[in-house]
Amino acid sequence: MRWTILGAGAIGALFASQLKRIGEQVTLFDARKSQPSPLKLTLTTLDQQAIEQEFVYETDLTLPETDVLLVTTKVWQVIPALTPLTGKLSTTCTIVLLHNGMGTTDWVLSRFSENPIIAGVTSAGALKTTKHHVQHTGFGETWLGPLNEQAKQSTPIIPTLNTAMGHADWSDQIKERQWQKLVINAVINPLTALLNEPNGTLLSHQSQVRQLCEEVAPLLAKEGIDQTAEQLFTTVMAVAERTAKNYSSMQQDIAHQRKTEIDFITGYLLQKANEHQLALPQHHELYLKIKEREQAFTH
Ligand code: PAF
Repeated sequence: MRWTILGAGAIGALFASQLKRIGEQVTLFDARKSQPSPLKLTLTTLDQQAIEQEFVYETDLTLPETDVLLVTTKVWQVIPALTPLTGKLSTTCTIVLLHNGMGTTDWVLSRFSENPIIAGVTSAGALKTTKHHVQHTGFGETWLGPLNEQAKQSTPIIPTLNTAMGHADWSDQIKERQWQKLVINAVINPLTALLNEPNGTLLSHQSQVRQLCEEVAPLLAKEGIDQTAEQLFTTVMAVAERTAKNYSSMQQDIAHQRKTEIDFITGYLLQKANEHQLALPQHHELYLKIKEREQAFTH
């Protein structure tokens, strides 16, 4: 299959390298043509092999050589990055949304109404140490679910991703998995960013983690997601433990004075809570603190 990766950050570079390693045709995409092409990238695999590869940047907005467009940008870049492709992208190209946060799918479904659209959630761990090096830091599961009728036919994607990443499968509960990941991100990311610590620090902040899970559980119930506060707490703590040495993406964004994904993580939770007339005061406080930090360097 022919893949194009939109957003060569840690996860995008990992998927690009792992797909190329198994012989798939992989290009990167940059509508702004701001990247020198080709890009040299070294992948360090889970068993510490170093694999050197080269990726060409595609700039043709129709993506004529692409079967699957994998969207791995920061969530706030999804709409601006896909906008130049509207009305141009071949309608046979499957779009896979594999980013943190929520709130982009309605826009993508309406602008690319003829394309198969898939939502994905991955727990694969990746670290991009430089522009030219990505490390696969942890095995993770990748779950995909169709967002429209056309996407129900896109099954060849699964075995290919499964071979490349060690796990990939269809989920008929993708909405539940997306919400679960959203809660993981809404708890781990702002807390670790404000504490300026790796994820494992939350093992000594369990009561705050528990309170954040308790506060958000009624919202998930309103959204039809069957997850108790206790289940959410267990899941969040398991991720914090499994990724104890890793720095969360939001900690890294704040540490490097970059815009964060807070609007599409906690901001999305707050927006949904508002629609259901629920209050999330502790999440709101975290939101305000991150916005305050962010505004200090984005203005
Ligand atoms: O955003 C991140 O960093 C990751 O999604 C997670 C799960 C919080 C682990 O660091």
